[in-house]
Amino acid sequence: MGSTSSWPPLSKILFLLNLGYHLAHASEKYISAIGDPGMKNPNVRVGLEAWNFCNEVGAEAPKMGSPRLADCADLYCPLIVDSLGCTAKCEVHHKVNESDNSLGAGNEFPETGFKPYTDPDLFAVEKELYLGSLCEVQDSSNPWHFWMIMLKNGNFDKNTTLCPENGNKVSKIITGRNFPCFGEGCMNQPLVYHNYSTLVSSEDQTVSLAGGFYGTYDLDADLSKGAGKNSYFSISWKKNLSTGSWIFSQRLTTSSKYPWLMLYLRADATEGFNGGYHYCSRGIIRKLPESPNFKVKLTLDVKQGGGANSQFYLLDIGSCWKNNGDPCDGNVLTDVTRYSEMIINPATTSWCRPDNLVSCPPYHVSPTGEKIYRNETSRFPYSAYHLYCSPGNAKYREEPYDICDPYSNPQAQELVQILPHSEWAVHGYPEKKGDGWIGDPRTWVLDVGALSSRLYFYQDPGTKPARRVWSSLNVGTEIYVSPAGVTAEWTVSDFDVLVPEHVTTSYDGFY
Ligand SMILES: *[C@@H]1O[C@H](CO)[C@@H](O)[C@H](O)[C@H]1NC(C)=O
Ligand SMILES: *[C@@H]1O[C@H](CO)[C@@H](O)[C@H](O)[C@H]1NC(C)=O
Ligand SMILES: *[C@@H]1O[C@H](CO)[C@@H](O)[C@H](O)[C@H]1NC(C)=O
Ligand SMILES: *[C@@H]1O[C@H](CO)[C@@H](O)[C@H](O)[C@H]1NC(C)=O
Ligand SMILES: *[C@@H]1O[C@H](CO)[C@@H](O)[C@H](O)[C@H]1NC(C)=O
Repeated sequence: MGSTSSWPPLSKILFLLNLGYHLAHASEKYISAIGDPGMKNPNVRVGLEAWNFCNEVGAEAPKMGSPRLADCADLYCPLIVDSLGCTAKCEVHHKVNESDNSLGAGNEFPETGFKPYTDPDLFAVEKELYLGSLCEVQDSSNPWHFWMIMLKNGNFDKNTTLCPENGNKVSKIITGRNFPCFGEGCMNQPLVYHNYSTLVSSEDQTVSLAGGFYGTYDLDADLSKGAGKNSYFSISWKKNLSTGSWIFSQRLTTSSKYPWLMLYLRADATEGFNGGYHYCSRGIIRKLPESPNFKVKLTLDVKQGGGANSQFYLLDIGSCWKNNGDPCDGNVLTDVTRYSEMIINPATTSWCRPDNLVSCPPYHVSPTGEKIYRNETSRFPYSAYHLYCSPGNAKYREEPYDICDPYSNPQAQELVQILPHSEWAVHGYPEKKGDGWIGDPRTWVLDVGALSSRLYFYQDPGTKPARRVWSSLNVGTEIYVSPAGVTAEWTVSDFDVLVPEHVTTSYDGFY
């Protein structure tokens, strides 16, 4: 026998491969589209990115380097044969060290081919590519890099010009919209600390890896004394010893200076643009899923909800296409980020109502494909929607409309936020408020492809419908402006993305 890690058992691997058959239609086999199917890989591949209000860096936090980090570690268990028989002695091999993780704007990279930009926004992009190169797994023709942990600070200082307006650089922000900001510097990046993955042994001697990241946005905090009244986030990973899946445990707490925070676990495309980005990044999705044929499987256990404004996304899916249906090409004036999110916090209400059509999509598509206009008050399923808002650069919207926040993305964005409802339950999504919430952990098999093909997204009249190819699939929470000290806590495991084995068309656009 060659050297192998003790984890996962072969039987578990076979079980996982079988899953494809069970989920498939009689004629079509589904396969995993990601580098770490079902999170069963014994090795750790985790990246971390922190975003300011418009998904950039702005300024790095003091002594923290660029907010792109990675924990990539292989579990190495060679068999040692001696007079007593065979024993496996395990070691951890780290691919990314502290000097890699601490690289900041202007620093030279240890390898050639990466530019040491002094602009913190540009440097972060380069650092992500560099970390990706260290973590890259070449176990097939489509290499992959890491799961991505995304942190975002919702503070926005309107006195700065850090964020464009629908992609347009503006010299002064003039808006009636209100955003939290305690004063100069409120858009800061976090202090991030790292527990590098280490070996852990279970009682039955099974060896696996475990590690984590944690930190705060409050730059004067001393976390060695506990989180106190400061904002706090943590993400840790360890193996579920009975299934072999990673268990990602997350926690997020607001503070008075940081009332709006986001923490997601993302499956991002391994190349091209990810949802919300206008530059190339790294990830784990090797084969981009396209509506209507793909599914997402995951186990979610919400332990604390994060208060009434915690928009907990059972799934947030992100992509990018232009209003004429063309794929995005990096031109922030015409590219539009498209998001759809299923919010499972039962405290989240429907802003889309018969007396508030401005927050509804122009029409709903029923499971049988029938269009129901939002003014058909006896039939439109208002309670299936939290809100809809249209892209700031759309030219032919139907009245009445609401425009999505023009500042919180590098380009215009469109949002379709949905709520548990029987309309979506036909695709395996929660049917009613409270499903999958605290005390109701579940393993979901979501027909995301079918659901997302039914959603309304804006397009210019007469243009060819965009291909809905999704480059980011995220789970986590956006604690929207909330009192200090609200906490959300949850675990994610078994995450997988399943796509038909035989995709007849290829996609040339960038996502
Ligand atoms: C960290 O890793 C980089 C790239 O692999 C290498 O060039 C550098 O010498 C390492 N630094 C330390 C302190 O081990
Ligand atoms: C922005 O500028 C105004 C006017 O100078 C000032 O009152 C306000 O405090 C500033 N806001 C921040 C966040 O610095
Ligand atoms: C980091 O390690 C410390 C010490 O072992 C532990 O108390 C803490 O829970 C860990 N945090 C994370 C997020 O991994
Ligand atoms: C491990 O997975 C099993 C089967 O899904 C589940 O019952 C158990 O709660 C999981 N263990 C942990 C620690 O999450
Ligand atoms: C309802 O909306 C549709 C589409 O916008 C429109 O054609 C129709 O006239 C509206 N009906 C009423 C009764 O307002």
